[in-house]
Amino acid sequence: MSNNHTGSDRANSNSTDGHHGRTRWVMGNWKMNPLRKEAIQLADALATGLSKQTAQPLCQLAVFPVALHTLEIETILHESPIELGCQDVSVHRGLGASTGELSAELLKDAGAQWVLVGHSERRSQQGESEALLSAKLKAALESGLNAVLCVGETLSEREAGRAEAVVAEQLTAQLVALADRFDAQRVVVAYEPVWAIGTGKSASPEDAQAMHAFIRQLLEKHRADLKTVSVLYGGSVKPDNAGLLASCPDIDGALVGGASLKAADFLAIARAFSG
Ligand code: PGA
Repeated sequence: MSNNHTGSDRANSNSTDGHHGRTRWVMGNWKMNPLRKEAIQLADALATGLSKQTAQPLCQLAVFPVALHTLEIETILHESPIELGCQDVSVHRGLGASTGELSAELLKDAGAQWVLVGHSERRSQQGESEALLSAKLKAALESGLNAVLCVGETLSEREAGRAEAVVAEQLTAQLVALADRFDAQRVVVAYEPVWAIGTGKSASPEDAQAMHAFIRQLLEKHRADLKTVSVLYGGSVKPDNAGLLASCPDIDGALVGGASLKAADFLAIARAFSG
């Protein structure tokens, strides 16, 4: 499968330039969108857009469609460099008596390489706890899926001056639970301030950079090799703010929601992070 990149492929690509060996990623979280026909059109538009993209090699790309559409989207993106992920994973492994669940093995079998864990919408809408998130992370990593761990504070937590403390608690809970069981290339951290998600109100490049530098310190303090973990920013990333965010030294890419549903916008954001 041509989109099954390894860590060394990435290290050889130009997607790490200027970021101290960290891979630059732009990832699209399609959330509960769109209907099947439009999802196919979006994947087709991404594949076509990328095949015309010759001027500049792009950073690494991944999309996270609705799980039900994974197989069809995989068929369309199979020949493209875009990697594929799912938005959730079960804590239950393999196959068996877990009605309604999708295990990491099933997701891999459908062509997924990545999974999102800890997105704020799942933390708030499904009440996912740190303990549940670590069981999901372990299920994903031990089954061979790579994981994007999402962290971020709410507006009231930021206003109370607790943004760093909250992010540290979320990140540390998962790092401690994972112990040494993962390789830095297989985990990406996404800093997504909850108040910036879907609101059109992105964090300022200064605030985002400060939090990314803080996250990087926490990662490195936990395990020296984790300094190469990519840390992405998420929360109202659009083509018109991507350039400034991309110029921050500790922002290695973006996790994009709304703007990832338009192929032209997603590719424009990818170009901003590929300079
Ligand atoms: P947004 O979503 O880009 O629509 O703010 C980001 C996310 O939830 O990952």
